[in-house]
Amino acid sequence: MIINTELEYKGNLFPGRINSFSQDVDKINFKTENGVILQVTILRGSVIRFRYATDNNFEKDFSYAISKDGVRGYSKLEVEEHKDCYKIITLKIIIKISKADLKVSIFDIHGNVICKDDWGFHWEQSYEFGGNIVKMSKAAPQGECYYGLGDKPMHLNLKGKRIENWATDQYAFGKDQDPLYKSVPFYIGMHEERAYGIFFDNTFKTFFDFCHERRNVTSFWAHGGEMNYYFFYGPDMEDVVTRYTDLTGKPELPPLWALGYHQCKWSYYPESKVKEVTSKFRELKIPCDGIYLDIDYMDGFRCFTWNKEYFPDPKRMVKELADDGFKTIAIIDPGIKIDDDYWVYKEAMENDYFCKRADGPYMRGKVWPGECYFPDFTNPKVREWWSGLFKEIIDEIGVKGIWNDMNEPAVMEVPGKTFPDDVRHNYDGHHCSHRKAHNIYGTQMARATYEGVKKYAYPKRPFIITRSAYSGAQRFTSSWTGDNIATWEHLWIANIQAQRMSMSGMSFTGSDIGGFAEHPTGELYARWIQLGVFHPFCRTHSSGDHGNQEPWTFGQEVINVTRKYVELRYQLLPYLYTMFWEYAEYGVPMLKSLVLYDQYDLQTHYRTDEFIFGNQILVCPIQEPNSKGRRMYIPKGKWYNYWTKEFVTGGLEQWVDAELDTIPMFIKEGAIIPKYPVQQYVGEKKIEELKLEVYFKLGAKEVSKVFEDAQDGYDYMKGRYSLRTFSFTGKENEVIIQQHKDGTFITEYETMVFEFIGLPFKISEVEIDNEVVDLKTIDFDPVRNIMKIPKNFTEIHIVG
Ligand code: GLC
Repeated sequence: MIINTELEYKGNLFPGRINSFSQDVDKINFKTENGVILQVTILRGSVIRFRYATDNNFEKDFSYAISKDGVRGYSKLEVEEHKDCYKIITLKIIIKISKADLKVSIFDIHGNVICKDDWGFHWEQSYEFGGNIVKMSKAAPQGECYYGLGDKPMHLNLKGKRIENWATDQYAFGKDQDPLYKSVPFYIGMHEERAYGIFFDNTFKTFFDFCHERRNVTSFWAHGGEMNYYFFYGPDMEDVVTRYTDLTGKPELPPLWALGYHQCKWSYYPESKVKEVTSKFRELKIPCDGIYLDIDYMDGFRCFTWNKEYFPDPKRMVKELADDGFKTIAIIDPGIKIDDDYWVYKEAMENDYFCKRADGPYMRGKVWPGECYFPDFTNPKVREWWSGLFKEIIDEIGVKGIWNDMNEPAVMEVPGKTFPDDVRHNYDGHHCSHRKAHNIYGTQMARATYEGVKKYAYPKRPFIITRSAYSGAQRFTSSWTGDNIATWEHLWIANIQAQRMSMSGMSFTGSDIGGFAEHPTGELYARWIQLGVFHPFCRTHSSGDHGNQEPWTFGQEVINVTRKYVELRYQLLPYLYTMFWEYAEYGVPMLKSLVLYDQYDLQTHYRTDEFIFGNQILVCPIQEPNSKGRRMYIPKGKWYNYWTKEFVTGGLEQWVDAELDTIPMFIKEGAIIPKYPVQQYVGEKKIEELKLEVYFKLGAKEVSKVFEDAQDGYDYMKGRYSLRTFSFTGKENEVIIQQHKDGTFITEYETMVFEFIGLPFKISEVEIDNEVVDLKTIDFDPVRNIMKIPKNFTEIHIVG
């Protein structure tokens, strides 16, 4: 590349030579001869912020994405000046900054290149909007792979793609369609099995190019704002994701019922229809915890009102549903109907809470209620007001969760399907246009909703679900993947999106099971529910335009399959809750794509279908009609086929049988999988026993955990939880299980039921805490290797 003396090439401007350097504790500033500043901030040994300014001038520092609660601090920081460069050295990485052109290269401490600027930072001045179009390009060595970026409905490995982030209402989207509802400008790069991450914290429209334009270059740029990105070093991909999640925030635990099965449709009304649906679940004994009210519960689609003809006494209905174990979740959209007789509209008008166009008029747009105005959720006063609106629906009526939709924001019958660019936003005092606030609008709405529901549901925990989201939204809300279609291709997409959201810090996500648009065949619905029960959020939803989508609409065989898998989800609730706790506590992604599970196995780099649910359950959906099974890759290690108990060795692709009632599912050897009894809803039964399925492994210890608490409320934050850590050691004729317990919560059950799978010997003796027990006293079943053990043991010895 030849750069002329004005440091300009093809319309792009470049930093010149560094002419000054300064350090203020964790911030290191480099200034160039042509007014560029690079500020490097060391957040942790492996988390570094890179921020660039032009004209010697930074914007005011503000981000909606970064969490206040993230880990900060490092144990080593040295800055060295060399002839050609500066070197910043932490415990984990070395950053070189070239004096001649400000280019950055990042190495691990062994000197391996992790990520290196190609052109590095450059920019174009935007004549149209003012400010800069800020750009970054990085060298893309051969074989580098790319993952992440939220809800993109394309191959997990993004190599060769160009991506756009601009939240968009994309009804019936297709494979590879971009952009969709969410903007998560975070990707993971991996080269030679070393992973790193980049979070480009810029809410303007952003683009990412992964070797699409130039084979050896990866770049990202934004239509405004600053070049401001965070770099995370792994080398483990899981650590990249946990560090990113820590920086942008972790969620609270949801109430356990939110991890149950949910049923939705556009729309269940009137009240008798809602009851008919919920009663049928109980009659058919398909467990279900959540029932949704879509927009038709409102009066003329006015948020925070009720259609009294369909729902004459919502409080009574919600209570009756609750008595039957159903939690009611209601939709709330951002568009507020322009109506002088409508209290929400009047309050917002009186207080000047609606978004306005640049020249003063309100931002007017058509959504479900007709012409609407839209609250500016980037205004803290508006958020506070909005949160107060939930008093009646949550506190008085007893609705348990709120569903935020259309918050891209979606506007009907206009070309861009959203606000025009000139709309003004408060942006927490950093006034700006919609170009900057668009991608964050949905998250700020969900945040305000979360604050309201949390306040009025207290001391219980809130449940929020959103369609649009930006990085950090996971602190407030779960999400779903929007208006998909009842096709086999969309089953593939749903699998990809759930995995991708997990590796993008937003694990609590699911798809509309069965598809939103069009109507699934019974077979497709059955295959989808089999996958859906392994997604952190599990809900059937449909547009209702093409027929019903309750499990019983597809005949007896599908009812049976649905019941079998929803029951399995309810049995696995302690396992799922423990996964959630690891996500909430440490930022661990709940679903692990195979590459995230084992990046050191090259076979995993381009796999899409198989994933690990939690840490120990391998799942692979059937994605084609008339299947009797499929080929799948079983990752390295040894696994038990969950259904046949067959012991298989991974590291190769193999055929797995799967008739309509079976999804390929494997348990890692050495795992101890906790199960509750089947319940029709969370809390239906007192949990009398915790079942533990122990999958034998010969050799090294395997650790499994079980997290439990009151299943709702905040006592867990005060130490009132029960965290059991089991270590399994297997020998040729002996098994040792050690238990360590943390937390002060006392679980309801007194007994654990152990079932040993794959034991290579016949049990002749059992010792609990070094005392031999009479096998009769523990209800020992020698055929199935089942026994009952009092819960508070420290060590069990099973001897052959
Ligand atoms: C949007 C949502 C969908 C909802 C519908 C009506 O299309 O994505 O889930 O049912 O609006 O509210």
